[in-house]
Amino acid sequence: MPKVCLGIESTAHTFGVGLVSSSGEILFNSSDTYRPKKGSGIIPNEAREHHQQVSPGLIGSALELCGKPDLISYSKGPGMGPMLHVGMNCAKALAKNLDIPLVGVNHCIAHVEIGALSTGAKNPITLYVSGGNTQVLALTEGRYRVFGETLDIAIGNAMDVLARNLGMNGAPDIEGAALKGAKLLELPYTVKGMDLSFSGIVTHCSRLANKENVEDICYSFQEYCFAMLTEVTERAVAHVGRDEVLLTGGVARNKRLSEMLRIMCEERGAKFFAVPKELAGDNGAMIAWLGLLMQDQALKNPEDATVGQRFRTDEVDVTWKK
Ligand code: FE2
Repeated sequence: MPKVCLGIESTAHTFGVGLVSSSGEILFNSSDTYRPKKGSGIIPNEAREHHQQVSPGLIGSALELCGKPDLISYSKGPGMGPMLHVGMNCAKALAKNLDIPLVGVNHCIAHVEIGALSTGAKNPITLYVSGGNTQVLALTEGRYRVFGETLDIAIGNAMDVLARNLGMNGAPDIEGAALKGAKLLELPYTVKGMDLSFSGIVTHCSRLANKENVEDICYSFQEYCFAMLTEVTERAVAHVGRDEVLLTGGVARNKRLSEMLRIMCEERGAKFFAVPKELAGDNGAMIAWLGLLMQDQALKNPEDATVGQRFRTDEVDVTWKK
């Protein structure tokens, strides 16, 4: 009999609940996302209240479907404290009330593992891009090592901030406007070793708002930022000697980023995988799947559950992959 894990995601603006079986079947994956007022970023207390309001309904729907799950997992971090606590408290209450083991998992690794499950990638260099994180990862010596990352803001956050500065709503508007752009403006290209920086490019692009077409600004922004991401990913592929690249996280939905990585992979003879769009953003299924992979590390006492706002990808022993 396959086991079923109920996973709870609550690191940022999305509260998500997923049910996944130990054979890798996603039985349920539903979420509700807090939307800040136009022109504003996430206000943590508002997001916490949102999560508190939507959590009973989402968890109730999952339980209706599966009855009593075999395992509960939750996003332990990294993320924003007020929202992380909502998810952890829901998970703790379920584990105690139903007397089920509880495991806290790393959100970034959950993005990697749901990407591997859904695409069949075996041992890739992973580019994980979202509103909160930008990392180039590979499994070496039992841990997901960070080969490159942003030194300031994540690419998804950079896209959101630029969109707002240009009078649009968010990252998807940048992609839409970029499709209509044609003129490549000269922007800063900020790769430092294997690390990246996006905040200077956002400032530069925002200052061009009254001088250039919005479409050309968005087009140039994507071309520069995605070239930087592709360059660092390519160098990781070369250094570590892998023949697979996996793109995961919310920004994996961007078609131009996928296209650039695909071309790079074709030129290197590597296979390219992108997580499907329905599993790209934050979701409960990825937390449930990683919970199953980590069930040996479940807590003996749910009261020992903690959150880690700066929980790093390379802190976790990857015991489930040889
Ligand atoms: Fe995420």
